[in-house]
Amino acid sequence: PSARTFYQEVGGAPTFARLVAHFYAGVRRDPVLAPLYPQDDWAGAEARLRTFLEQYWGGPTTYSDARGHPRLRMRHAPFAIGPAERDAWLRNMRAAVDSLELTPEQDATLWGYMEMAARSMQNRWPDD
Ligand code: HEM
Repeated sequence: PSARTFYQEVGGAPTFARLVAHFYAGVRRDPVLAPLYPQDDWAGAEARLRTFLEQYWGGPTTYSDARGHPRLRMRHAPFAIGPAERDAWLRNMRAAVDSLELTPEQDATLWGYMEMAARSMQNRWPDD
């Protein structure tokens, strides 16, 4: 039998739906982040992040079926992401992860990834 995925271990689709709903509720009210997002397609943005994260953690491949290879750094190139944007994204994601009440081990796994990924999406530095 194949190993249980992290996606399954944390509760599957309902868990990722809660995570991303909580995250975007915060983003929509965040003065640094909200202006970057498509104001007429919040539901679409939520679905893209949700399906990406599900796929990354071993769930269904719905994201790539719809969007192809993630190429996330390239897809973030149109947005100026400096330290303020990165930190705001992580602050909202931290609150969303807290809302899940994962075990400490699960939390560390998910959060370690989020910190690494947010650092790798930064594309502006203060002295540019
Ligand atoms: C898309 C901002 C980090 C995953 C987007 C979009 C914005 C954005 C404005 C366009 C919304 C849309 O129409 O989909 C940011 C900012 C970040 C950040 C300011 C700060 C560091 C991350 C990280 C991940 C991520 C760390 C992954 C863990 C995605 C995905 C999409 C997306 C999957 C949709 C890509 C597509 O298929 O078009 N992001 N993002 N983002 N972001 Fe981020």
